[in-house]
Amino acid sequence: MSDIKESLNSIREEFDKALEQVKDSQAAEQLRVSFLGKKGQLTQVLKGMGGLTAEERPVIGKIANDVRSHMESRLEEIVAKIKEEEKGHKLRREVIDVTIPSDRKGAGSRHPLNMAINEICDIFLGLGYSIAEGPEVEYDKYNFELLRIPEGHPARDTQDTFYFNDKVLLRTQTSGMQIRVMEQQKPPLKVICPGKVYRSDALDATHSPVFHQIEGLVVDKGVTMGDLVGSLRLFAKKLFGENTEIRLRPHHFPFTEPSVEVDLTCWKCGGKGCNVCKGEGWIEVLGAGMVHPEVLQNCGIDPEVYSGFAFGIGVERTAMGRYGIDDIRLLYENDVRFLEQFK
Ligand code: DAH
Repeated sequence: MSDIKESLNSIREEFDKALEQVKDSQAAEQLRVSFLGKKGQLTQVLKGMGGLTAEERPVIGKIANDVRSHMESRLEEIVAKIKEEEKGHKLRREVIDVTIPSDRKGAGSRHPLNMAINEICDIFLGLGYSIAEGPEVEYDKYNFELLRIPEGHPARDTQDTFYFNDKVLLRTQTSGMQIRVMEQQKPPLKVICPGKVYRSDALDATHSPVFHQIEGLVVDKGVTMGDLVGSLRLFAKKLFGENTEIRLRPHHFPFTEPSVEVDLTCWKCGGKGCNVCKGEGWIEVLGAGMVHPEVLQNCGIDPEVYSGFAFGIGVERTAMGRYGIDDIRLLYENDVRFLEQFK
């Protein structure tokens, strides 16, 4: 009997010692299992009670119960304490300091160039065109060669650009997209291709070495110059208002025949003549023409069966007219005071 009594006492001592190490609820549970669980130390000792006499049993029983309730109540205490601490930690972790100044930035606004591109694209999407995009680092053959601008052609000089090597350059025009599209898709075709283009021009109030164009291309059976004029008139009126007219002047582009330069009624004076249109009443906005038969042929499209028109819109010029901007440099300086005005 004294063996059991001793075991019970040492269980109690061991328990008290182990309890001091308990720092979280997981450790408390482990301790409970190892002392009070089905296979725990207390149960193991009580299994030895079978060998006791009828007098000894209640005495040991009482001690065992005391040890059990001692352990249970100590565990309960420590678990309650741990829970309280954990709650405190959680509260401290989640505390929100409402006095810290906010780092929220004011809402931005779209860049006027993107606004113009979106507006123009929306008009053509409404006319059933789809959008195609291509690389700014372009092969010579797309930018020049297949557009009938061979090496040594004077058009290359006026569109001098940045070369990576003999065959690769920063595109000088979005017209190369005509070729890329016609190589990939067969007529009927109706696409617009917005994008950046590059020329080694010096920056001034009306020129920038990086600017934007939107190319248009329509190829189908029986497409005529009349379709081109009708489409461009509609575009001009949708963008600048019902009273806007277009004027075509004969021109030369190697990849269209016939070719035209297209002016729009001056958006400032409505045609009377002012400082913006330099007294002309018209402002040049785009180049256009009927796709040259050789260009169609270069892309495997039979010019005896199909015809098409193409146009290239200058985005900067259009945006400057649309939003009353008088210096192209404002579009690239990212001065917030300027950009904010387009909210
Ligand atoms: N790519 C020409 C330029 O940058 C503009 C242009 C003219 C595009 C006539 C066309 C076109 O599609 O038909 O000056």
